[in-house]
Amino acid sequence: MSGFVSFVGSGPGDPELLTLKAVDRLRAADIVLFDDLSAGPVLRHVRADADLVAVGKRAGRPSPSQSHVSALLVAHAATGARVVRLKSGDPAIFGRLEEEIVALRDAGIGFEIVPGISSASAAAAAAAIPLTRRLSARRVQFVTGHDVTGTLPQARNMAALADPDATTVVFMPKRTFPALADDLVAHGLPPHTPALFAENVGHPDQRLTRTTVAALADRLRATVSEAPALILYGPLMEEA
Ligand SMILES: C[S@@+](CC[C@H](N)C(=O)[O-])C[C@H]1O[C@@H](n2cnc3c(N)ncnc32)[C@H](O)[C@@H]1O
Repeated sequence: MSGFVSFVGSGPGDPELLTLKAVDRLRAADIVLFDDLSAGPVLRHVRADADLVAVGKRAGRPSPSQSHVSALLVAHAATGARVVRLKSGDPAIFGRLEEEIVALRDAGIGFEIVPGISSASAAAAAAAIPLTRRLSARRVQFVTGHDVTGTLPQARNMAALADPDATTVVFMPKRTFPALADDLVAHGLPPHTPALFAENVGHPDQRLTRTTVAALADRLRATVSEAPALILYGPLMEEA
């Protein structure tokens, strides 16, 4: 008998931002494999007799390799268990979902994807910023601040990234944003373009800082905290 895997989006961390379907799958699970960013109060929905397996970086230990996580997922599902693979935000956004789906398909194991509220949507909502605006932000794009090597992606679509009519959300931006900002300005984006630095979104210590692309780059050149953070820039609606 083979089990079944539910990829579940945990949202940004605020348990009230879990979907009803996510809660249902967490309650039904025999085993939950979770990342660091999906840990926290949302795990309270897991049954006391279910197994919780952390597959992120813990206490300075390096994160398990992606192939190891995929193999774990297959091995647990193969026992017939109802497995939840909990991923932060929406599992389909920068969540290495593809690798795990391929492993399950290759093993003939069924799965579903339960979408979650991305930290991008949650950050915009917390700062009262519409991601699109009818007149000034007709496009929204989600990009990553680093590639598999941990550095700023070499192949960057600078025309898109420096588009003044788009809202851009940069995931994993902290160490590479200064270099990206230099490139944006070199490609015509005004340095005073509005930016939002959103740390620990959906957590009690959430911090939202309204700034500009150039000022944020200067700040991140000087200091970088450990908190998960996103950067939004573009024609962001101003504070009331
Ligand atoms: C591997 S990606 C996963 C993104 C996730 N799937 C989503 O939709 O939010 C991890 C990055 O998402 C962002 N992130 C996730 N949770 C966050 C939070 N609560 N506050 C701020 N940024 C967050 C950070 O940029 C972090 O480095």
